[in-house]
Amino acid sequence: MNNTSQEYIRRFGSFRIVEHWLNAVTFALLVVTGLSQKFHTYELSQWIIGVLGGIDTTRLIHRYSGIMLTVMTVQHVLVASFGVLFLKWQPSMIIQLKDFRDAIDNIRYYLGLSEHPARCDRFDYKQKFEYWGVVVGGMLMIASGLALWFPILVTRYLPGEVIPVAKALHTNEALLAFLVIIIWHIYNAIFSPEVLPVDTVIFTGKISKKRMIHEHPLEFERMFGVSLPPEESRHTPADTETVEAAQTVKNPSSTA
Ligand code: HEM
Repeated sequence: MNNTSQEYIRRFGSFRIVEHWLNAVTFALLVVTGLSQKFHTYELSQWIIGVLGGIDTTRLIHRYSGIMLTVMTVQHVLVASFGVLFLKWQPSMIIQLKDFRDAIDNIRYYLGLSEHPARCDRFDYKQKFEYWGVVVGGMLMIASGLALWFPILVTRYLPGEVIPVAKALHTNEALLAFLVIIIWHIYNAIFSPEVLPVDTVIFTGKISKKRMIHEHPLEFERMFGVSLPPEESRHTPADTETVEAAQTVKNPSSTA
């Protein structure tokens, strides 16, 4: 059987699937325990704090989840750096000039000013935007969270003004991160017409060949050594992925 006739392609290995789950659960815990402290006068916050066993437990859960986020972020940066430097992984999340051109091309396509959408590679400009938001935002939350946790230690080396700055940064970035995930990420993962009712690729690790051609034609061409005509990547509502339907899969390529 010709490789390109496979219905499903392996996009993510189990390491990335577990990493996404851990990130989702940790982020949810941090948002729930953090925002209920920020908006502590609201009834909903008081109910959440009560269910969790009081303010002390809520703060404890927040700090333990903070340690979890710190470990995962450090792990991710170290593994990605090691992979790119020593295992020849392709640094597929690096932002390039092409990403800006792709964004403009897609706007032109959606406005009906061009025949074809942008031809994206393994990750498109929207995915890169989200990824760097999580990595850079995560680092800011970790640094400011640690400053709030250990103010005496921090002010031994840095001026005292750092603490109110850390507090303003932590509390406002928390709200921003929550809104970005709710509005942007949940829309792209669930409600976008291209994935409705839900994009399951990060849970099953498998993507249909049809979606791959629409959304990542350059990676598809590289994987199978073919050249697709531009009209192949025209966007249509994606066919829904199901675990049962995923019969044949290709091994994941190692990428950072
Ligand atoms: C996405 C990640 C995070 C979110 C959304 C988040 C959210 C929040 C929010 C909303 C508050 C309340 C601020 C206020 O009262 O105005 C808070 C407080 C706090 N956060 Fe975070 N946070 C995150 C990560 C972290 C991390 C990584 C750490 C530590 C390593 C941390 C440690 C703290 C500490 C120490 C406080 C002060 C409350 C306390 O004493 O327990 N947070 N966080």
